Amino acid sequence: MKVEEKFPPPKELAKNAWIRTPEIYEEALRDTESFWAKAAEELDWFKPWSKVLDWNPPDSRWFVGGKINVSYNCLDRHVKTWRKNKVAIFWEGEPGDKRTLTYDDLYLEVNQIANILKQMDVKKGDRVTLYMPMVPELIVAMLACARIGAIHSVVFAGFSAKALRERIRDAEPKILVTANHSYRRGKIIPLKQNVDEALEESSSVERVVVYQRSDTEFTPMKSGRDFWWHELTVDAPLRCEPEPLDSEDPLFILYTSGTTGKPKGVVHVNGGYLVGVATTQKWVFDLKDEDVYWCTADIGWVTGHSYIVYGPLALGTTQVMYEGAPDYPQPDRLWEMIERYAVTIFYTAPTAIRAFMKWGEEWPKKHKLSSLRLLGSVGEPINPAAWLWYHQTIGGERCPIVDTWWQTETGMILITPLPGTTVLKPGSATLPFPGVKAEVVDKDGNPVPPDQGGFLVIKTPWPAMLRTIYRDHQRYRQTYWKRIPGAYFTGDGAKKDQDGYFWMMGRIDDVINVSGHRLGTMEVESALVSHPAVAEVAVVGKPHEFKGQSLTAYVMLRGGVNPSNALKEELKKHVRQEIGAIAVPDEIYLVDKLPKTRSGKIMRRIMRALLSNEDLGDTTTLEDPSAVEEVRRWLKEIK
Ligand code: WT7
Repeated sequence: MKVEEKFPPPKELAKNAWIRTPEIYEEALRDTESFWAKAAEELDWFKPWSKVLDWNPPDSRWFVGGKINVSYNCLDRHVKTWRKNKVAIFWEGEPGDKRTLTYDDLYLEVNQIANILKQMDVKKGDRVTLYMPMVPELIVAMLACARIGAIHSVVFAGFSAKALRERIRDAEPKILVTANHSYRRGKIIPLKQNVDEALEESSSVERVVVYQRSDTEFTPMKSGRDFWWHELTVDAPLRCEPEPLDSEDPLFILYTSGTTGKPKGVVHVNGGYLVGVATTQKWVFDLKDEDVYWCTADIGWVTGHSYIVYGPLALGTTQVMYEGAPDYPQPDRLWEMIERYAVTIFYTAPTAIRAFMKWGEEWPKKHKLSSLRLLGSVGEPINPAAWLWYHQTIGGERCPIVDTWWQTETGMILITPLPGTTVLKPGSATLPFPGVKAEVVDKDGNPVPPDQGGFLVIKTPWPAMLRTIYRDHQRYRQTYWKRIPGAYFTGDGAKKDQDGYFWMMGRIDDVINVSGHRLGTMEVESALVSHPAVAEVAVVGKPHEFKGQSLTAYVMLRGGVNPSNALKEELKKHVRQEIGAIAVPDEIYLVDKLPKTRSGKIMRRIMRALLSNEDLGDTTTLEDPSAVEEVRRWLKEIK
């Protein structure tokens, strides 16, 4: 579907938005360092920086010499003002329990947990792993780490015990914070049980802090290791001075999938990250004090880190936070909540939007959504049909949509409209954020002509970019800076149109995007190969109506193993245990052979291109035509 229609910003917004001068783009590119320095001045620093940027490709240091504390910026500076009693979080549990936390409430809890961590001998630079559901205590724990300079590593609560163990092994935390369980579609998910399993083998974790989500079920606690959050906080001191940290001290590690079987620990630092995230939060979402903002992501992913925790809190925002599934108890849960809290800004993912479309417009129609003034989208390309539905049915044709392109590694939004300024085109993430130099290039780094596909790269550093892969700086250089000369390689394909608008074409590496969640095909392959019945595997992504992409696994069994449907089910269960439910392939084919090149490499790229009806010229210049024929034949045989 091609949509020619353009959507200029509504007049009211164009008048009142934080940013409304197109000149800002030229200004920011002309003197990028002054642009970011001005942005950094909106935060509170203990000590000013002496140099905005120290760029030693591919290593950058921002706000060199500056001292800052992220939790101070998210809490202390607000509680000194009228925002002390402003609502920070309207929280709602899936079963319907509700809590309202002001900035002062958050502040006190964070101080307490920071003290508890200190009592447990957590020092600056120590890692703390957080494996928690969507409860305010997760935010509290993150900010408590930030307050004392500990590095948090949040592991998405949907990951299995094994995936958690792997991430613990890499980060080597002293402390793990979790909850006894969480809720999902009315079911109880036993998180603490996963933790116990993950810690079975020897591990760096000395103590486990357990938040009691509810006391409906008995939770075994290991004496001397496990402590209840609510017991620890009874007499923990209410004041903990924020540690002045170096701009470049790490703030967190977040694991994300790459093209190998091992997830990468993306490292973000205090100063630049907060500058990038707070600035984009303010400009892209046009956030004002009177807004009620809601981002539906899970904090286990980068969207939650940047645009639930650090961005909104740095700006003193009031936000809605929800624990559970969007269709529980009914498919209008989100719309009902938007109406009840009078949400003004709503940020979600295309996969969710397509699910809403499937459930039917009668659900949003039941509710008054007139409080909304701005909508956002993130995680994968939004198809024009979903864009238009979102615009009409949720936005009442009144709300602009900011389609925001970014990555775990970029930390902050990099390609996006600015509401009030940018004319929108459904399906396009539009233009690079001021100060960001994005380009579409060929494999030698030369820009390609308009409307032609190429690699999406970023040509100059930005403050919130990752600094390294935890304990593997070589992999950082290799993955992001070696593919295209002189540029950061995003792993995405894209086109730029005649107006300079960017159109994302999805990943061009072996990473796929299932329901907005990033998965490495290699990771799923290693999970499958670890099953005793399996000899070799190829996992490929293919377009899926709701998920964006889905996983298909071609599994070659070991000699003597008989194929059966029961075995397929067992393999699915195995992947669920190894990684988690999100990684379970939709389809598993048990095959006799896999198509390989002469050097023995499985031809995944061709398989994927054929399964997706991709233009082979666009994506697979490297393959020879006879190989394409071979894979085509092979796929036919399987069907
Ligand atoms: C990949 C990054 C950034 C937060 C969520 C995902 C894809 C993300 C868009 C968008 C087209 C998008 C890209 C990117 N992506 N946003 N607006 N339009 N594609 O973070 O797990 O690090 O995944 O998500 O392919 O590389 P992530």
